Amino acid sequence: MKSVLVTGGAGYIGSHTTVQLLQAGFEVVVLDNLSNSHHKSLERVREITGRDLSFVQADVRDRSALRDVFTKHPISAVIHLAALKAVGESQTQPLRYYDNNVSGSLCLFEEMQRAGIYSLVISSSATVYGEQGTGQYDERATLAPTSVYGRTKRMVEDVLRDICATDSNWRVALLRYFNPVGAHPSGLIGEDPNGTPNNLMPFIAQVAVGKRAKLSVFGNDYPTPDGTGLRDYIHIQDLAAGHLAALDALAQSDLSMPLTVNLGTGQPYSVLQVVQAFATACGKPVPYEIVDRRPGDVAVCYADPALAHKLLGWQAKHGLDAMCADTWRWQQMNPDGYR
Ligand code: NAD
Ligand code: WQD
Repeated sequence: MKSVLVTGGAGYIGSHTTVQLLQAGFEVVVLDNLSNSHHKSLERVREITGRDLSFVQADVRDRSALRDVFTKHPISAVIHLAALKAVGESQTQPLRYYDNNVSGSLCLFEEMQRAGIYSLVISSSATVYGEQGTGQYDERATLAPTSVYGRTKRMVEDVLRDICATDSNWRVALLRYFNPVGAHPSGLIGEDPNGTPNNLMPFIAQVAVGKRAKLSVFGNDYPTPDGTGLRDYIHIQDLAAGHLAALDALAQSDLSMPLTVNLGTGQPYSVLQVVQAFATACGKPVPYEIVDRRPGDVAVCYADPALAHKLLGWQAKHGLDAMCADTWRWQQMNPDGYR
């Protein structure tokens, strides 16, 4: 059976993707430096799947660790998720973000090339679109990220477009995720933010479980129906499935340019709609107050997901209710995450 290397595989998206890879019969090697995750997530992956995986605690910038993995395991494709992802932090620590996300990716691509491994599925983000037009984006939209984090994603995309254009061995899928939320339905794995959550869904979950008093809603004066920001939340199970669909598409098609697709539902929800849906899922109100806008936030951001359906045969299946119910189950079963 084929072996896949998942960088960042102990993290939120990586652990859910690894479960689905193991369930589909792949052998999996996870390489993660645990800078934003816990090894327990991988124990839970083993528990859910009843299968083993190889774990290498190392940094993607560690070339000898990469060489070792490529020598010891018959890796046929890499899913590259390892990156730092906090937008606010990226604005104050640009060198750290460029080094981790851009230099880390360059090391990986060079070592893949050296080992003769050319199949790659990689995380990009809707944040590469910045803020334009109606806020609904298809893949032809101009790339105009507004943060350091977003620019690291665009840079890595540019590198991949350039190497695909000059070396036809490469087969690359660039996945632009919208807002991943939710957890595995077992409640055993989920998003485990360090400290105060930056993102809406984990913050709401911590309010509901009593770890935080109330949610701050960042602005209700946006040009949207209820004044709060609109986003395209996508269930982590659907997002993980998108990676397997992308691997499949790489094996099938002849690609001279990266296969570039949005992974979203195409259905935007406001902050207050998410608060309401979560209150229904957990059976109690979620206290909140309206505060000032968060600098850098856009009013509206959602996907046109048609291309992923056409090219990968993939579309999101889960709605907002399942996203909230699964987040709540994970939060209740693991009030302190993996720690
Ligand atoms: P996460 O922090 O849970 O997972 C990332 C993992 O990568 C962590 O386990 C971390 O320890 C590891 N890592 C980071 N830098 C590393 C390095 N240099 N070497 C080895 N391991 C390293 O985040 P996630 O939400 O699972 O995100 C996965 C990918 O998806 C990232 O590339 C992120 O930028 C991208 N993404 C995430 C979102 C989101 O909202 N969660 C949205 C769009 C894109
Ligand atoms: C969603 C909505 C907030 C927290 C970020 C990154 C993006 C991508 C996904 C990686 C917005 C509002 C939030 C809170 C709130 N990550 N909100 N109170 O900002 O769409 O995207 O994560 O690639 O790059 O920018 O997600 O979950 O932070 O916010 O009112 O405490 O919830 O203003 O409208 P965002 P989010």
